[in-house]
Amino acid sequence: KTTILTGITTTGTPHLGNYVGAIRPAIEASRDRQVRSFYFLADYHSLIKCHDPERVNQSSLEVAAAWIALGLDTDNAIFYRQSDIPEIPELTWILTCMTAKGLMNRAHAYKAVVAENETAGTRDPDKGVTMGLFSYPILMAADILMFKATKVPVGRDQIQHLEMARDIALRFNHHFGELLVPPEAVVDDNTAVLTGLDGRKMSKSYNNTIPLFLPEKKLRKLIMKIKTDTSPPEAPKDTDTSSLFGIYRAFADDNATAAMRRRYAEGISWGEMKQILFETVNAVLEAPRRQYEKLIADPAYIESVLQKGARRAREHSVPFLSDIRKAAGIRPIG
Ligand code: TYM
Repeated sequence: KTTILTGITTTGTPHLGNYVGAIRPAIEASRDRQVRSFYFLADYHSLIKCHDPERVNQSSLEVAAAWIALGLDTDNAIFYRQSDIPEIPELTWILTCMTAKGLMNRAHAYKAVVAENETAGTRDPDKGVTMGLFSYPILMAADILMFKATKVPVGRDQIQHLEMARDIALRFNHHFGELLVPPEAVVDDNTAVLTGLDGRKMSKSYNNTIPLFLPEKKLRKLIMKIKTDTSPPEAPKDTDTSSLFGIYRAFADDNATAAMRRRYAEGISWGEMKQILFETVNAVLEAPRRQYEKLIADPAYIESVLQKGARRAREHSVPFLSDIRKAAGIRPIG
C-alpha cells in the first residue's frame, strides 16, 4: 500500500513555497482513499534553528491551521505534531548509532553554515553548528521510516535528505533484518523551487517569503515588491529567470500558463504582470484565507485535531518501535 508522509518545520508562517512544494501535493494525495497519509508539524526540527518558545508555539498553530484551511481531510490523513510521538526521538537515537558521521558531513544544511563561516573568515568553521543541525537528517529519517512511508512529497531542497533516509534504512536492514522501508522523494518539477521576493529560493531563512494567508491588501503589496529587471514594457521577457512567472505557473492552469508565455515573448509590463499574478494567487487563496482566520482564533479545536492525529499515529509507532527495539537487542518496554 502507498504511504505518503511529509512535514513542515514550525519556525515561521507557512509561505507560498511550502504550499506548492509540499502542502498542495500532499493534500491532493490524501484524497485518495487507497493511500495512507501522514502529515505533521516538525516542531523538534524547529529547535535546530529557533530557540524562541513563543515563536515555535505560534508557528505550530499557524502551520496546523494552514493545512486544515487548505482542505486537508483529517479523518483520512493522520495529522499530528512530531513531538507528540515520543517513539520518533527514540528511533532517532537507534538510527544515529547506525549512521556514518561521513554521511552527515555531506549534508547541505550543515555544509552551508560551514561555507558561510569560511567565506566570512571565521576562525572556527563549525561556529554556530549544533549537533542538532549536524544530525538533522537522522531525525528526518526517523520521521519517515517510523511510518513506513513510500512516497515523500517535498521541494527540491529536501531530496538529499530523502537519499540519506534511504541509506540509513538500508544500513539498518543490513544489520538487523528487513524492517525499514526505503522511501522515495516525490518532486513536482513545475514547482520544485519557488523563488521569493529577491529572486532566491523562497525560504524562511532568507526572509524573502510571501506568507500564504496575508490579508488581501498586504498580499498585493508584497507581490508588487517582487524584484524584476529594468527592461521596458515592450521588451520580450525571459520566463525562466522571472520569479513572477515561476509563481504564476504554480498557481495558474496549463492554458493560462501557455498564454502567459506568449505574453512574455511579446513583452508585458512588470506592473501588469504583478497585478495579474496578485489576482491569480488571491483567487486560489481567498476562500482558504477565511477558513484560516476562523481556525487560528480557535486553538482548542486545532489541538483536538492534533491530539486525535497523535493517537492514530501512535497506533503505528508504538508497536513498530517495539519490533525495532527487539531487532536491535533492546528489551521491549513493559
Ligand atoms: P521546511 O519546513 O523547510 O519546508 C517544508 C516543505 O516546503 C518545501 N519548500 C519549498 N518548495 C518549493 N519552493 C520553495 N521555495 C520551498 N521552500 C520550502 C520544502 O521542500 C519542504 O518539502 N526538514 C523539512 C521538514 C521535515 C520533513 C520531514 C519533510 C522534517 N521531517 C520528513 C518530509 C519528511 C524542512 O525543514 O522543510
